Amino acid sequence: MAPLPAVQLKILLVSVLLTLTSAVPAGFPLAVQKPLCKVIPGTLNWPSAESWNRLNEPTGGRLLRPPPPGAVCHPGQPTYDAAECPAVLAGWSTFEFHQADPISTDWNQWNNDSCLPQQADPYSGQGYPVFVINTTTPEHIKLGVNFASEHNIRLVVKSSGHDYLGRSVAPNSLYIWVHRLKGLETHSSFRPQSCNVDIEASAVTAGAGSQMFELYSALDALNQTTVGGNRRTVSLGGYLTGGGHSILAPRYSLAADQVLEMELVTPTGDIVTANQCQNQDLFWAMRGIRLAFGGCSTFGILISATIKTFPSPQIVATPYIFDVVAYVLAQYPSLSDRGVSGYSFFFQALPTLFDGGATTVGGIYMQMNLQDSTVEAMAQLWEPIFEHINSTWPGFHAGFTSKNYTPFNNWFLDYLEVAEAGVDRLVGSRLLGADVLTANLTLNAEVFKRFATSGVGAAYLMSGKGVQNTQPRGGGNAALPAWGWAYVHAVLGQMFEPLNATARAEAFELVNYALDPMRELAPDSGAYMNEADPQEPDWQHQFWGSHYDRLVYIKRAIDPEDVLWCNPCVGNERWKEVGDQLYQA
Ligand SMILES: Cc1cc2nc3c(=O)[nH]c(=O)nc-3n(C[C@H](O)[C@H](O)[C@H](O)COP(=O)(O)OP(=O)(O)OC[C@H]3O[C@@H](n4cnc5c(N)ncnc54)[C@H](O)[C@@H]3O)c2cc1C
Ligand SMILES: *[C@@H]1O[C@H](CO)[C@@H](O)[C@H](O)[C@H]1NC(C)=O
Ligand SMILES: *[C@@H]1O[C@H](CO)[C@@H](O)[C@H](O)[C@H]1NC(C)=O
Ligand SMILES: *[C@@H]1O[C@H](CO)[C@@H](O)[C@H](O)[C@H]1NC(C)=O
Ligand SMILES: *[C@@H]1O[C@H](CO)[C@@H](O)[C@H](O)[C@H]1NC(C)=O
Ligand SMILES: *[C@@H]1O[C@H](CO)[C@@H](O)[C@H](O)[C@H]1NC(C)=O
Ligand SMILES: *[C@@H]1O[C@H](CO)[C@@H](O)[C@H](O)[C@H]1NC(C)=O
Repeated sequence: MAPLPAVQLKILLVSVLLTLTSAVPAGFPLAVQKPLCKVIPGTLNWPSAESWNRLNEPTGGRLLRPPPPGAVCHPGQPTYDAAECPAVLAGWSTFEFHQADPISTDWNQWNNDSCLPQQADPYSGQGYPVFVINTTTPEHIKLGVNFASEHNIRLVVKSSGHDYLGRSVAPNSLYIWVHRLKGLETHSSFRPQSCNVDIEASAVTAGAGSQMFELYSALDALNQTTVGGNRRTVSLGGYLTGGGHSILAPRYSLAADQVLEMELVTPTGDIVTANQCQNQDLFWAMRGIRLAFGGCSTFGILISATIKTFPSPQIVATPYIFDVVAYVLAQYPSLSDRGVSGYSFFFQALPTLFDGGATTVGGIYMQMNLQDSTVEAMAQLWEPIFEHINSTWPGFHAGFTSKNYTPFNNWFLDYLEVAEAGVDRLVGSRLLGADVLTANLTLNAEVFKRFATSGVGAAYLMSGKGVQNTQPRGGGNAALPAWGWAYVHAVLGQMFEPLNATARAEAFELVNYALDPMRELAPDSGAYMNEADPQEPDWQHQFWGSHYDRLVYIKRAIDPEDVLWCNPCVGNERWKEVGDQLYQA
C-alpha cells in the first residue's frame, strides 16, 4: 500500500488580553587497589613527553594538544590571533562550531567558563583537557583507552559536545574525540554476529560520530528514515546510548530500542561486537531497556551501531499556542494512542503575534505530527479539543495551520535546529504518565505554571504505545520503569550569566524550584538522563529505576578500574570531583 502523506499540524493557542499589562548492591567484585586520584600534569606520575610520543606514533600523529578555541581572542596567549577571533566569536553560538572543535562544548559552564572568546573575560584554560586523540578507527580508540588505563589518566569521550550534564568534559584529561567515526552502510536484512538467523528488517550501520542530519539525508535518498533526534548535529554516540527520543518514538519506540548490534571498545581495550547473541550484558547495558540506558561512556566507547530503518513516513504538522496547558496535556495520552507525536513549548508572553495592542499572556505552542495520514484526519482529532477550549475559555485564541510533509525529511528541514549553543545552560526534566496528566487538572495547572514561568519549559509528546509495547533485541525487560508508561517528557532549560557563581546557583535553584512539584506529582517516575538536572537527587534511580543495581554489577565486571568515569553516570560512586581533580571517594 502506498504510504499516505503524513501530516503536521501547527497549533497556536494563546490567551489574549486586550490591555498591555501582563504578566550499590552486595556481591560486587571487590574494588582493586586504586591510586588516590587520577594523575594531573605537573605531578610525578604524569606521563613524560616520550610516553605521549609513544601514544602518538601508532595513531599516525593523531594525538593533539589543542589550546581552548577561545584563546585566539586573548592577547598574551600563544594562539592569540586578532584576525581569527571574529570567526570564533561568530561561531560560538552555533552547534557546528563546537562539534568541529576537538575540545569545545556547547554549554560554557562545563568548561568552567575558563576560556570564553570575549576578550574581557578571564582566561585560564583550566576547564579543558590536556590531550585529544582525533580517532578515525577502533584501533585509535583502543590505544587511547589502554594508555589512560596504564597511566591512570582521566578519560573522556567527546562527540558533538552537546551534553547538557557536562559528561563530555573534564579538565586534566585525555579526550577520545569520536566525531570523525562516520561511515554508513544500509542493509535490507541483517544477521548479527554469532546469530544464526537474519533479522528481517531494513537497517543501517553508522559510525558513532554520525550526526542526525547525515543519517537522515543518506536514508532519505533511499526513502527510508530512522528514529532520530530533532537537531541536525546531535550525534549517534550520546543520543543512542542515552535512550533517544524522537517524533517517531510513539510509533516505533526510542532510538536505543532500534539497535540490532553495536561495535565498541571496552574499558579494558577490547574491540567487541555486542548483540542479542554475544556479549549480551554489554548489549543490554550500552543500550539497555527503558530507563536502563547505561549510556554515555560508562560501559564502552561506541564505534558504530546497526539500527533499524523504516520507510519514510509522511507527516502532517500543526503548531498551536495556549494557556490551558493542563487541559491540553491531559489529551496527550489519547492523542498519542491515535498516532500523534510532537513538541510543545510553554511561554509567558508572545507579544508580536497579534496586532491591535493585544498582548498574549501565557500559552502553549504545539507542533504536532501525525504519520501516514491527512490534514483532515489531523483536524478531526483536534476539533473536539478546540470546541472544548472555545466553550470553556472564551477569551482564548486558538490558531491553527497545518502542512503535509512528504518526503519526511522535509519536516526536518523546517524544524531542525532552532536553539543556540555557546551559553551557560542547565536543564531538568520529568517523565509523566497518563495517570498524572489526567488526574487533577487544577493541580497540574499550578505545576505547569511554575514550570513555564521558571525558565523555558516544554512538554514533548515523545513516548506512548510504540515505546510501551516495544520488544527490544535481547529482551529482558523485567521491570517497567518510566519510559514504559510515560507519555510526556517535560523538560526545562535555564540560561545564566557566565563567570557568576551567584547566577549559576540561582539557575540550579530555579530548575529545582520548577521540578520539585513535578517530582511530587510523579514520585515513581524518573527523568530522561540525556536531558536532566545533573544534580538530580537520587539520580541513580531517577535515571535508571530498578535497573540500576544490575547496571552497576555489569559496570564493575567490565571496568574494574574505572577507566571510564563520568558524572552522573552508572557506578561512578567510587570517585569524586574535587576542584579540577578526580579523587577516590
Ligand atoms: C540541540 C540539541 C537537541 C537535542 N535533541 C534531542 C532529541 O531530539 N532527542 C533526544 O533524545 N535527545 C536530544 N538531545 C539530547 C542529546 O541526546 C544529548 O545531549 C546527548 O548526550 C548528545 O550526544 P552527543 O554524542 O551528540 O554529545 P556529546 O556531548 O559529545 O556526548 C554526550 C555523552 O555521550 C558520550 N558519548 C558520545 N559519543 C560516545 C561514544 N561513541 N561512545 C561512548 N560514549 C559516547 C559522551 O562521553 C558524553 O557522556 C538534544 C541535545 C541538544 C543539545
Ligand atoms: C581529524 O582527522 C580528520 C581526518 O583525518 C582530519 O580531516 C581533521 O583535520 C583532523 N582534525 C584535527 C583538528 O586535527
Ligand atoms: C523514492 O520515492 C520516490 C517517490 O515515490 C521515487 O520516485 C524514487 O524512485 C524512490 N527512490 C528509491 C531509492 O526507492
Ligand atoms: C475556536 O475558536 C477559533 C477562534 O478563536 C475559531 O477559529 C475556531 O474555528 C473555533 N474552533 C472550534 C472547533 O469551535
Ligand atoms: C486538586 O488539586 C487542587 C489544587 O492543589 C486541590 O485543592 C484539590 O483538593 C485537588 N482535588 C482532588 C480531587 O484531589
Ligand atoms: C551575578 O548574578 C546575580 C544574580 O543574577 C546578579 O544579581 C549580579 O548582579 C551578578 N553579578 C555581576 C557582577 O554581574
Ligand atoms: C573554576 O574556576 C574557578 C575560578 O578560576 C576556580 O576557583 C575553580 O576551582 C574552578 N573549578 C573547577 C572545577 O575547575
